Amino acid sequence: MTRTGPFKGRTISVVNDFSLDEQRYLYRKTRELKEAALSGSDVSKFRINDLDYQVYLIFMENSTRTRESFRNAGKFLGARVNVFDAATSSFNKNESITDAVKMLFGYSGESCFVLRTKLEGVCTWLDEAFTEYAQITGKPKPSFINAGDGKHEHPTQEFLDEFSFLEQLGWNEDHIHIAMVGDLYHGRTVHSKADGLRIFRNVEVDLIAPELLSMPSYYVEKMKANGFQVRIFDSIEEYLAQARVAPIWYFTRLQLERMGEAVLERTPYLRQAVTFRKDFLGKLPDGCRFYHPLPRDRNFPTIPFFLDELPLNGWDGQSINGYWTRITEIAMLAGRIGEDFEGEHARRPKFVDDFVHEAQAQEKRKPEYKVGIKPVEEGIVIDHIATGKPVGEIWDTIDAVRKILKLDVRSSHGVYHSNRGPDIFKGIISLPDIISFGEKDLKKLAAIAPGCTLNLIRHAHVAKKYRLSMPPRIYGFDEISCKNENCISFPANNEGVLTEFIRKGETTFVCKYCEREHKFRDIWDV
Ligand code: CP
Repeated sequence: MTRTGPFKGRTISVVNDFSLDEQRYLYRKTRELKEAALSGSDVSKFRINDLDYQVYLIFMENSTRTRESFRNAGKFLGARVNVFDAATSSFNKNESITDAVKMLFGYSGESCFVLRTKLEGVCTWLDEAFTEYAQITGKPKPSFINAGDGKHEHPTQEFLDEFSFLEQLGWNEDHIHIAMVGDLYHGRTVHSKADGLRIFRNVEVDLIAPELLSMPSYYVEKMKANGFQVRIFDSIEEYLAQARVAPIWYFTRLQLERMGEAVLERTPYLRQAVTFRKDFLGKLPDGCRFYHPLPRDRNFPTIPFFLDELPLNGWDGQSINGYWTRITEIAMLAGRIGEDFEGEHARRPKFVDDFVHEAQAQEKRKPEYKVGIKPVEEGIVIDHIATGKPVGEIWDTIDAVRKILKLDVRSSHGVYHSNRGPDIFKGIISLPDIISFGEKDLKKLAAIAPGCTLNLIRHAHVAKKYRLSMPPRIYGFDEISCKNENCISFPANNEGVLTEFIRKGETTFVCKYCEREHKFRDIWDV
C-alpha cells in the first residue's frame, strides 16, 4: 500500500500549518470520505492498513471528543493505536515530554503523535527536535498533531468547525456570517477562528460577550486585518434587538476556573448575558444552526438542553465531524492521500539576517567620542543608542547594552544631543579597550539597541561604521526568555528548548513556540 503523499511527516501545530489550499483539500477529502462511508461505498483509498504505523495518543489533560475521535480514526485507518497513560507515567518523576516521546518513537516504524498538553507550543518544538533526531536514528520523521495546548491552539477543532460550517452552507465558500457567543476571552476555539474563517472569501463576525469575557483585542485586530467585518455586542439580548442576526452561532463554555475572584463575583450576570433563552427562539433567522466545541457545562449550559431536539442542533453533528476530519488528517500525514493535491503548500518563513549595514565613515575627527573629556584614539564607539526616545529610556538602553554585552571595561557613556534636532537625544558608549565585536555580540547589540551605529576608531578617526537594524528573529542568547510560564520554552519548564523570538512589526516579537506577543523590551531578562 503506497504512502508517498506530499503531506507525509508533516505536523499540525497551529491552523496555519496548513495553507488555505491545504485546508480546502482537507475539507474536500473529508466530504468525499464521509459521503462514501455513509452510503456504504468503498473507502479503502483512505485506509493505511499498516500496524507498523502507530498513532500514539498522549493526553496530559482531560478530553472526551478529541481523544476518542482520534482513537477511532486511527482504528478506522488500520493503524496501530496506542493510548499513553499520562497519569501513571514517568511524567510524575519529572520526565520531559521530549524524552518520553523519544522512547515511544522507538517502538514503531512510523509514528503520528497526538498530544494535548497544558504546555503551549509543544508540537512546534517536537517537530523541530525530531527533524534532527529522526535523521540520527535513520527513521522517518514522525508527525505531531496538537490536540489542544493550553490557551494557545486546538487546530483540529478549528478544522472540524470549518468543515461543519461548509456543510451547512452547501460547500459555498463565498460568504459566512457567524455569531460567536460566550467566553470569548479564554476560548482558544474562538481565537482560532481569526485564522480558520479565512477559507471564506467574505466574512462577517458578530462577537457577543460582556466586556469581562470579550475577545482579546489581538484577535479582533487580526480578524480585521484578515478583512473580516466585526461587530461587538454585550449580550444575546442586545444582539437580537437588532435586525441582522447571523444564521450560524458558535457558543463556548464559560471557563470560570480560569477567572479571578473579582470576575467570579459577577458570574450570574456573565452567564445570563450569553445563555440562550426560550423567548429568543422567534428572533432567529430561518435555517439557523448552533454549534459548540463541547463539553457543555451540564449545570449551566450556554445552549440549554431544551434546544437539543430542535433543527438548531448543529453541535452533535459537529462533534461527529471530528471523527471524519481526523481520519483525513492522519491519512494525509501518513502519506496515504495527497497525491491529487493541487495548490500552494504552507511555507515556513525564511529569515535573512541582514541587520548589519556598513555606513559611510566620516573623515573628520569626531570630538564627541570621549572617555570623560578625552577623545577615543583606538577602540569602539557605539553611537545613536535609542535616538529620539525619552531620556530615561535611553539610559535604560545604555544600561541593557552594558549588562548584556558584559561591557565591564574602562569606558564611558552618556546621553547627548542628537544633531537631528534640539530636543532629540541619543546615547553613546565609548570603549577604548575594545577593538572588535564578534558576530554574536553584534547581533545582540542590534537586538538591544536597533538603529545604533558601531564605529571602529583607528588613529582617532572613524575607520569603519556599521548601522545595526532590528534582526528578523532573536535567538541563541542566554539573556532572553519567553515570559509565558505555560510555554514549552519557559526556562522553569526545563524541556531544553532554546528561546526564539520572531519579529512582528517594529517593536513586537512573538515566541516561536507559544506565539505569545512580547514588547521588545520584555524579551530580555535584564
Ligand atoms: N472539543 C473538545 O476538544 O472536546 P474534548 O475536550 O472533550 O476533547
